Amino acid sequence: MDKSNGLRVILFPLSIQGCINPMIQLAKILHSRGFSITVIHTRFNAPKASNHPLFTFLQIQDGLSETETRTQDVTLLLTLLNRSCESPFRHCLTKLLQSADSDTGEKKEKISCLIDDSGWIFTQPIAQSLNLPRLVLTTYNVSFFRNHFVLPQLRRDEMYLHIQDSEQDDLVQDFPPLRKKDLRRILDQETEVLDSYSAMILETTKASSGLIFVSCEELDQDSLSQTREDFQIPIFTIGPSHSYFPGSSSSLFTVDDTCMPWLDKQEDKSVIYVSFGSIATIGETEFMEIAWGLRNSNQPFLWVVRLSSVEQDTEWIEKIPKKFIEMLHEKGKIVNWSPQQQVLKHRAIGGFLTHNGWNSTVESVCEGVPMICLPFQWDQLSNARFVSDVWMVGVHLEGLIERDEIEGAIRRLLSETEGEAIRERMKLLKEKVGRSLKPKGSSHRSLQHLVDFISSF
Ligand code: UDX
Repeated sequence: MDKSNGLRVILFPLSIQGCINPMIQLAKILHSRGFSITVIHTRFNAPKASNHPLFTFLQIQDGLSETETRTQDVTLLLTLLNRSCESPFRHCLTKLLQSADSDTGEKKEKISCLIDDSGWIFTQPIAQSLNLPRLVLTTYNVSFFRNHFVLPQLRRDEMYLHIQDSEQDDLVQDFPPLRKKDLRRILDQETEVLDSYSAMILETTKASSGLIFVSCEELDQDSLSQTREDFQIPIFTIGPSHSYFPGSSSSLFTVDDTCMPWLDKQEDKSVIYVSFGSIATIGETEFMEIAWGLRNSNQPFLWVVRLSSVEQDTEWIEKIPKKFIEMLHEKGKIVNWSPQQQVLKHRAIGGFLTHNGWNSTVESVCEGVPMICLPFQWDQLSNARFVSDVWMVGVHLEGLIERDEIEGAIRRLLSETEGEAIRERMKLLKEKVGRSLKPKGSSHRSLQHLVDFISSF
């Protein structure tokens, strides 16, 4: 840490893994620049305070029942959390500000601002009423963040209902680089609850003091200038924040490190890493199709299968014939949770079969690992199109979870012709993004602006 600057920042991550990681990474960055850090968090999915002894952690009640904490429905979860956390959060923040005001000791600190996730829709009025500047961190890329506010209108127009078969692959003009078939998937899944939620995110973000993206100009240039125009607030693209402090310390799951010595035994760029993040679930049939696709490709693979990620009873894995599992283990390794950032860095990794959560996508780009895209929902569909259609650093499964498709995609990715071109483009993209993090690079400058901005309050 630089010498303390006498300022404290309060962070409030949304309680899911994909949102906790970037917020904790931001906390580490700000701490290294002299800020003291307080993290307010829910009891549900609480980050491990012991991993960050230099931060202060304050837990608030989230009102979730045991059953609710097990829901796979993220919309429901966010609705419940937003409903029940408002009052405990207000109480906690008010107390923090009061004690900072009444502190007269030598170590008196000023609370500079609140940084919380765009998905918390009650925090802006609270911060405003307490005269505390609020900055918003979003875990979407710039393009999806800006464009997803148009979804309620597209739903009202019912345009997605009239997509002809011949138009499936056409670009959605109001939402590039989504294709019309992607739009149908996004709108099919979402309910009106999400439309009003998005409207609240838009309103509370516009009223905030600034917006932070874990992205960079090199990845999101086109949408960035439009977003600046739309929002009229300072916007910071601090780049892939995990690169500043490699190694995730904010895992909510128990990390199985045994995959690292296993990777050491594999040949360079031979292993397909498979992970669908912290939320996505698949059915038993899909599990078997992926398993066969991996096995038939004859490539070694490392597969993250979270305990709750297959939609069946928890003992389902016990029911898979032992012979089949043994056959999988001839070529592969299955773990419940991996040290993903370390895995992607490993010389043995040749490709990443991913759901394209934004964190996973950016982590893969930073390590120059080409991707096989299997997006499940929401922003993942847009991120996947960036990978396959815009940056052209991966192949897209087009939603087909079938053994032949998976085997074929692995072969294409590792092939000498198509695969070589993909690997070359990925190498260039990795270098471009890497440069943005270096002094004078776009992310480096944007981060400095953020630090100056927060210090000016
Ligand atoms: C969610 C949304 O699904 C995603 O679309 C959005 O962009 C962010 O929030 P999630 O589905 O969990 O996140 O995916 P992702 O964004 O990729 O985040 C997963 C994080 O968990 C990554 O930082 C990844 O490194 C980490 N991870 C994943 C591990 O550390 N180990 C694993 O085994 C799997």
